[in-house]
Amino acid sequence: MDHVSTSFAGRTHWGYSRYMSDSQDKAPAWLEILKGKFIVFDGPDGSGKSTQFRLLGELVHEAGFDVCEVREPGGTPVGERIREVLLDPSLDEMAVRCELLLYMASRAQLASQTLKPAKESGAIILADRFISSTLAYQGSAGGLAVDDIMHIGQFAVEECWPDLVIIFDVEPEIASQRLNPELDRMELKGDDYHKKVRGGYLDQAKENPSGYLLIDAGGSIADTFKKVLEGLKAKFG
Ligand code: TMP
Repeated sequence: MDHVSTSFAGRTHWGYSRYMSDSQDKAPAWLEILKGKFIVFDGPDGSGKSTQFRLLGELVHEAGFDVCEVREPGGTPVGERIREVLLDPSLDEMAVRCELLLYMASRAQLASQTLKPAKESGAIILADRFISSTLAYQGSAGGLAVDDIMHIGQFAVEECWPDLVIIFDVEPEIASQRLNPELDRMELKGDDYHKKVRGGYLDQAKENPSGYLLIDAGGSIADTFKKVLEGLKAKFG
């Protein structure tokens, strides 16, 4: 079964092997330990998480594993429409509670349409953002309570909770250099907001060390990918 979601149909070749050191196997045997695992890639805008998400997706796909790759907000036709509203810079009046519910609505659709069947089939699930983003953006930066977010999150995703959340952490100066110059509604929220987002991620990783893997993503793509692979091996091996 091919779980690659509609938004990712037509895989771009990222050339993961260019980012692996010569001493590493091209498709290491230990990747087997990722079977059936749900792994989230998260972090501030410009952290490079999406590049790492694509590299790991390509590696496990080419190693022959069934992999389901999704992004948030979006990942389904309904979710992609919600994404357009959420990121539209002309809607800067959007209230934070509305924002939270739209992110959760997209997530509920994703859980029902894609994550549950992928989980049942034993695929490796890779997600570019998940509830950890809501905790950082609408929670730590937006001021909404963790308990409310978790309560609504539980309603939205039911049993689809990740086994591991990888947080890619970078200094704001590096993050801003990595951003696409055409900023979306969330990226336009300003430095103070984004500082709180980063703090929110660091707090989550500190509070739940067994469920999170914190990676310093300030270096090269290859250095960071090496840390991802080593971290996964250590967590699940
Ligand atoms: P992306 O550009 O990484 O796909 O993410 C879209 C933006 O939405 C990004 O600025 C982070 C933000 N976001 C939230 O504020 N809350 C959420 O729950 C999610 C999933 C994303």
